[in-house]
Amino acid sequence: MEFGLTEEQKIIRQTARDFAEEQLAPLAAEYDRTEEFTAPQAKMLGEMGFLGMMVPEEYGGSGLDTITYVLAMEEVSRACAASSVTMTVQNSLVCWPINEFGSDEQKRKYLVPLATGEILGCYALSEPAAGSDPASMATTAVEDGDEYVLNGSKIFISNGGVAKVCLVWAQTDRDLKHRGITCFIVETSMPGFQVGTEEKKLGIHGSNTVELHFENCRVPKTNILGKIGDGFKIAMQTLDGGRIGVAAQAVGIGQACIDAAVKYSHQRHAFGKPLAEIEAIQIKIADMATEVQASRLLTYHAACQKDQGVRFSKEAAMAKLHASETANKVANMAVQIHGGYGYLRDFPVERLYRDARITEIYEGTSEIQRLVISSATLKEGRPATE
Ligand code: CAA
Repeated sequence: MEFGLTEEQKIIRQTARDFAEEQLAPLAAEYDRTEEFTAPQAKMLGEMGFLGMMVPEEYGGSGLDTITYVLAMEEVSRACAASSVTMTVQNSLVCWPINEFGSDEQKRKYLVPLATGEILGCYALSEPAAGSDPASMATTAVEDGDEYVLNGSKIFISNGGVAKVCLVWAQTDRDLKHRGITCFIVETSMPGFQVGTEEKKLGIHGSNTVELHFENCRVPKTNILGKIGDGFKIAMQTLDGGRIGVAAQAVGIGQACIDAAVKYSHQRHAFGKPLAEIEAIQIKIADMATEVQASRLLTYHAACQKDQGVRFSKEAAMAKLHASETANKVANMAVQIHGGYGYLRDFPVERLYRDARITEIYEGTSEIQRLVISSATLKEGRPATE
């Protein structure tokens, strides 16, 4: 099913597929092994125009819609999930809010180099004691003349150690709780900005994940994104879009699991015939294909809602929830189909199994997605059948 894709969307998907298979897939296992940041891949993604896909052309982007972004994300993730972390953070979590809430001056200064891939950005919301509940963040920003002075720490920041621009959320008025949170565009060269520990992770080894520390970090008032006190809503709206990106990433990982399982099922023989002719394997392949396709369609639906300019929080949460849980299920099945070989680093399913896990955690755990979905559904007063 093509979901009514336009010719342009089909061409971009094919371009992304060819690029990912030729340039990214051959490097994926090596970057997983060395745990080095996928810097060359990020540079190539920028050259392909994949780091500012939804940014208008006047600000250096490709001016495309969310559906096209999702199509390219799936292909990149299918080849190398670590590289697609950079793609989703840059497009969804950094470029989108600057384009949506930034002033023209901020867009010229920051969005243009971000969208072209000249520099990387990061999104710093989570804190050691405020992950699922960002409204309780401890980082503060205190007004001082033409500047705000930031103090606090952020954790689990993807690309935080390689970014030049960081969106940072801080309390400007603690008494107002979530309505006292403000978003700042911080240049990582600003005094008081420090990169902390680089985390060692279960999967997506080629992505950079760090702690960030702000010690009297002085940020000009002109770098406030949106209005004072609007930060929480900016963070939430941004995450709605981010969740579509993670859903597409999970679809890509799930598809890679199907690809690997199908290939192995044709090659490997047991009981005198290929695995592909054994019913127990066929049933697994059928379930994998069905679940991944369901995730894909939920992801397209959420992307369509976003492109139509209607609120899509529930649809994005449904897509992320289903796609991430599916990626983990199908990775498990792909390992099982490979038997003992699936447990070895020599086979890609071992990496896919580890890479899939994070999609159920970052940009809101599955528990948070269920909370968003139930809250919207209960408000609607009827089952979500659309
Ligand atoms: N869009 C617009 N507004 C929204 C919104 C959305 N999606 N979600 C909430 N709001 C608004 C509400 O309407 C409400 O507005 P008012 O002030 O006018 O009443 C306000 O925000 C507060 O809403 P809630 O009372 O629902 O907020 P809450 O504190 O209960 O939180 C939550 C709701 C869904 C649990 C939210 O906190 C959440 O999504 N938590 C998970 C955070 C998360 O995903 N973190 C991951 C960080 S990024 C990352 O993973 C690292 C990386 O580098 C990739």
